[in-house]
Amino acid sequence: MTALPRRQAWKALQAHYKNARHMHLRTLFAEDPERGTRLTIEAVGLFLDYSKNRITDDTIRLLVQLAEESGLQDRIEAMFRGEKINITENRAVLHVALRAPRDTSIMVDGENVVPKVHAVLDRMTEFSNRIRSGAWKGHTGKRIRNVVNIGIGGSDLGPVMAYEALKHYSERDMTFRFVSNVDATDFKEAVRDLHADETLFIVSSKTFTTLETMTNANSARDWSLTGLGGDPSSVAKHFVAVSTNAEAVAKFGIDTANMFPFWDWVGGRYSMFSAIGLSTMLAIGPDHFHAMLDGCHQMDEHFRTAPIAENLPALMGLLTIWYVDFFRAETVAVLPYDQYLKRFPAYLQQLAMESNGKHVTREGKRVAYETSPVYWGEPGTNGQHSFYQLIHQGTRLIPCDFIGFQHSLNPLGRHHELLMANVFAQAEALAFGKTAEEVKQEGTPDWLVPHRVFEGNRPSNTLLAERLNPEVLGKLVALYEHSVFTQGIVWHIDSFDQWGVELGKVLAQRIIPELESTEEPPLHHDSSTNNLIRRHRAKARPNT
Ligand code: F6P
Repeated sequence: MTALPRRQAWKALQAHYKNARHMHLRTLFAEDPERGTRLTIEAVGLFLDYSKNRITDDTIRLLVQLAEESGLQDRIEAMFRGEKINITENRAVLHVALRAPRDTSIMVDGENVVPKVHAVLDRMTEFSNRIRSGAWKGHTGKRIRNVVNIGIGGSDLGPVMAYEALKHYSERDMTFRFVSNVDATDFKEAVRDLHADETLFIVSSKTFTTLETMTNANSARDWSLTGLGGDPSSVAKHFVAVSTNAEAVAKFGIDTANMFPFWDWVGGRYSMFSAIGLSTMLAIGPDHFHAMLDGCHQMDEHFRTAPIAENLPALMGLLTIWYVDFFRAETVAVLPYDQYLKRFPAYLQQLAMESNGKHVTREGKRVAYETSPVYWGEPGTNGQHSFYQLIHQGTRLIPCDFIGFQHSLNPLGRHHELLMANVFAQAEALAFGKTAEEVKQEGTPDWLVPHRVFEGNRPSNTLLAERLNPEVLGKLVALYEHSVFTQGIVWHIDSFDQWGVELGKVLAQRIIPELESTEEPPLHHDSSTNNLIRRHRAKARPNT
């Protein structure tokens, strides 16, 4: 693979950027009255208006050429073929198999994995039906009313995002909580009003070794046993596990009959449609869960088959590269205009930043370009009253993704039209701004004019769908997964490992005994870390 800076399209984009950076969206729209309808794509029920990007037809042509020169189509096929494209961990990357229809065949190491996927989905379905109907009884014979998912990272963010996103479809007579942080406050607050005899814990961990999850799971077992009179046999009725590590699950004391497996070819941040989604299925029911898988699959097929120029995820990924590597944008804001999507930006942070926050190529060479931007965001319209000031008038370029829906799930008076008016207004204001002449014409005193000018030319995508339902959520998640994939292919990095989280974990293991020791421990860190540890010991454990 030719190094990215030496690819023809990259060089051509560099030359093209020299002109493109001076183009204003006001001019681009004035020159092409069709732009707002032409630069749109509708696929699998999602509509993307990308006309308010700082691009011309040439930009798109060159970005498509860049994707081709980067072998995007070939790499998509490699992923779907089950090739071990996660090279540093020697693993296939097959979250697409999690949503493949029953009759599909996807081979990993000579085995079709789709039957295994559906066998687990069938078990999840049966289990969910038993819990939701009350057929599954707790230790004291009561039905389960509370479900607490314990997990972190990919074993938490997907489930909690999906639960919040699909709350409208959830079983309202049941309570769902999510515990992730090793800070005991998270666990204590989650269970403070729950009764152990009605509470099921799902311990979700791919590895079943993660410090936070294991610590919380142990505290949950103590809390549950205390509430149920200390009978160890109660664990079987109140704990299930989701993991790839049966041995560790058994060692923890959960019967592997109560374990829902997944596989090493499902990355943590790509796992919300595996058994890691058990809490989601319990909340929304198996039919809705399957509708969500179907939504993902539709987007998977679109990504696999649509030409790059008409390919929603590929195009969004390429536009991100355009801003990150040429305009030097450091962040991307994701702004869902739907309260139910309040955790969507947090979910995307792990998806994008753990995947593409990499500094070396697949061959281990330092990259000579920027990789993942920082993803962030809040639901509209709240963000408008806090950080939008900076997006409109600050000194940084922040490409935005607006997400809106034609129908509200909670129609109420004028609310929805007011909400949608704000989506369209924000994208319009960012793109076109307000000139000094326009400000002056309003009778603004000269000294105030610069403060009230909006330069405009601030790019955004607007994504619209009919309504937020499980199928659409599946499409949205798969859209961003594949956009992240596209970015990783062009940047020629391994988007599927996460070595960057390891060092902190190892150092914490070294510091834990130093904090817990009753004797003053010898410390061999740097002077700052030594001092912080000593100070904490002196303040937190004054008597030791
Ligand atoms: O933080 C690193 C990480 O490995 C993530 O990639 C993963 O989603 C998370 O920890 C949780 O890991 P596990 O599911 O193995 O507990």
